Amino acid sequence: MVKPIIAPSILAANFANLGCDCHKAYDAGADWLHIDVMDGHFVPNISLGLPIISSLRSEIPKSDKKSFFDCHMMVSEPEKWVPEIAQAGGDQYTFHYEATKDPVALVKLIKEHGMKAACAVKPGTPVDVLYPLAQDLDMALVMTVEPGFGGQKFMPDMMSKVEDLRSKYPNLNIQVDGGLGKETVPIAAKAGANVIVAGTSVFKAVDPKEMIQFLRDHVSENLKERGLLEQ
Ligand code: DX5
Ligand code: ZN
Repeated sequence: MVKPIIAPSILAANFANLGCDCHKAYDAGADWLHIDVMDGHFVPNISLGLPIISSLRSEIPKSDKKSFFDCHMMVSEPEKWVPEIAQAGGDQYTFHYEATKDPVALVKLIKEHGMKAACAVKPGTPVDVLYPLAQDLDMALVMTVEPGFGGQKFMPDMMSKVEDLRSKYPNLNIQVDGGLGKETVPIAAKAGANVIVAGTSVFKAVDPKEMIQFLRDHVSENLKERGLLEQ
C-alpha cells in the first residue's frame, strides 16, 4: 500500500524568492519539496547546494507538519555529500545508480545518517539494476527526462520501467521525474507511479492548488483501482 505524494521541484521556482515560493507550494497542497542538486559534472548543469538547503530548513523547520525535503542528488561521488545533506536538513537522499560503484554501501550510509534512501535511474539505464537493492530502498526514481534541466518533454517509453517495478514491489514508493503535468500524469499514474515530481507544471501554474489536486487525483484513482491506496 502506498500514498499519492506530490513533490514540486523547486528548480522551477523563482530563486530570488525561494522561501516564499516553497511556502506557497506547501500551502497549495504539496507533500514534499523536491530539491534538485546538480554538480556540473554528473549532469551538464549547476543548480543549488548545501547553503540553500540549510537556509530553506531554517525557513521550514522539521517541526512543521509538511516539511519533507526530497533531495535528488545529480552528482558524481554521491557518497561524499551524505553527512552534509543530513546536517543541512535533508529527509531523503536520492542518488543515481550510474554515479556509484557500491549502491548497497551507499544505502546503508544514508540510513546511518537518519535519512530515507532512494535510487534513481537515467533513461538509458535498465530498471533491473534496482532489483537487488529494492528491499532496502525507501523509493525508486525512474527519470522520465535526461537529468539536468527542467521543462523537458516527458518520455512515455520509460513507463515499462514503472510497470515492472510496481508489479514486483507493490509497497514501494515509485517516483517519476521530468515533464509531469496534466497531459502526462495519467500515463505515469496508470503505469503505477505514486510519487510525482512536478516543476514547471506546478510553479508556472495559474492555480498551483488546482494543479496539485489534479496530479493527486490521478494517482489516487489508479492506486485505488489496483487496491494499493493507503488511507
Ligand atoms: C531534472 C530534474 C527535475 C526537474 C523537473 O533534471 O531532476 O526534477 O526539475 O522539472 P519539470 O517538471 O519542469 O520537467
Ligand atoms: Zn529531480
